[in-house]
Amino acid sequence: MADRDTWVSSLGFVLASVGSAAGLGNVWRFPWLTAENGGSAFLVVYLLVVVGVGVPGLLAEFVLGRRGRQTPIGAFRSLIGSKWGSALGAFNVVTTLAILSFYSVVGGWILRYTLASPTGAYFAQPQQYFGAMGFGPAAVGFHLAFLGIVAGIVFFGVDRGIERVSKVMLPAIAVLLVGLAAWTATQPGTAAGYEYYLRFDAGYLAANLPSVLGPAAGQALFALSAVAGTLLTYASYIDDDTSLPRDTLAIAISNTFVGVLAGLVVIPLLFSQGVDPGGGGPGALFVALAGAFGSLPGGPVVATAFFGTVLLAAVTSGISLLEVPVATLVDTYGVPRRRATLLVSLLLAVTGGALALSNGAFQFVSGTLADLLLSIGLLAFLAVAGWLLPTDSVAEFRTGAGRFAPLAGSWIAIVGWVLPTVVLFSLTSSVAPLVGATLGLGGRALVAVAVTLACRLTVAVVSGR
Ligand code: PFF
Repeated sequence: MADRDTWVSSLGFVLASVGSAAGLGNVWRFPWLTAENGGSAFLVVYLLVVVGVGVPGLLAEFVLGRRGRQTPIGAFRSLIGSKWGSALGAFNVVTTLAILSFYSVVGGWILRYTLASPTGAYFAQPQQYFGAMGFGPAAVGFHLAFLGIVAGIVFFGVDRGIERVSKVMLPAIAVLLVGLAAWTATQPGTAAGYEYYLRFDAGYLAANLPSVLGPAAGQALFALSAVAGTLLTYASYIDDDTSLPRDTLAIAISNTFVGVLAGLVVIPLLFSQGVDPGGGGPGALFVALAGAFGSLPGGPVVATAFFGTVLLAAVTSGISLLEVPVATLVDTYGVPRRRATLLVSLLLAVTGGALALSNGAFQFVSGTLADLLLSIGLLAFLAVAGWLLPTDSVAEFRTGAGRFAPLAGSWIAIVGWVLPTVVLFSLTSSVAPLVGATLGLGGRALVAVAVTLACRLTVAVVSGR
């Protein structure tokens, strides 16, 4: 096996992970989901889900990544044996390829809007502008350009490429977002937006909790970059001195900060323009916000800063996604990194290109398929860490954990029992109506507990552990 890349510093690992996490999910998807799901009510549930599901799930990924010291296929092979390990690792690789295929299309749109912002080319007719470039040959071109930028960085590897770029880009993103949020606060007509976003409405929350939980959990995983195999790969480059719980918290907090900050820019601005924040969809950010920038003083400057920031955030997430298939070819199949980067990029040029031509396929892959892959990924990670390797996982959690070490016991209980039940509960909630079953909350909870028990038993019997 070739010498593996490593992070130059622990801070480099944290910054690169936040770079992976903070991206289009935060800046583009989060504000819209919040608006669609009742504003502050969604914000509260989302924050709870980040703490309750996202943090322990992400920790499981880090634990497995550092324990396995490999990209997904090699890591899972060494952790749970060749057959299942190869399958689960390959599943991760497919997940990252699927996500990056649509991510790069949106990245291409962002690139296009960044370039068009200084002249305000799309200000006058935002709807038509997006309609003309969203799907078609132009979208393919910008997808390829975005992919080219991402591939250019991955080409140079972990320490010279990813770490160096993250160290510059992340602070830039934070400064730009704070600046934009401050500027937004000075704009007239934004008060209703803040009210909508930040006012805590307990009544709404109580009435809508079950329906808000699913989207909130999906968004928490996507936004944290959890359970796709990317952060497992990043964790394979760290050493034993690193405190995984501490770094997970740092990453979750910074990422949530970026998401909330993005909401503080987007939602008040939409209100100031009288735009309905609930009308989401892939083009929403582009059409509504672009129109808002067009009618604000200093529009071109602010629009350039905004789309430039989103572009930086999208690039750092894109490199984490590309790193998984590339590093897998390097680690598991001995392909030189530069050749691996070229090969994978060629494949993505085709898959992303196809999505850039078809709105229907794009919606399917970016919505249903991505959500499905991530929920299966989460269950698989939980099963490996919590069911198959609880002792190893606890030991790995404790290594370097310092004052967080005593939390290992509660964490493994959450990973092995609570989270699988929660995931199965939300799956039952979406599957039950499909098969015509009408189950109350209690019924679904019972089914979830029973299925968790059955799965645990099956895994124990099959694996002989
Ligand atoms: N977390 C990224 C975002 O919010 O834009 C998207 C993402 C990156 C998801 C990497 C999954 C992943 F493995």
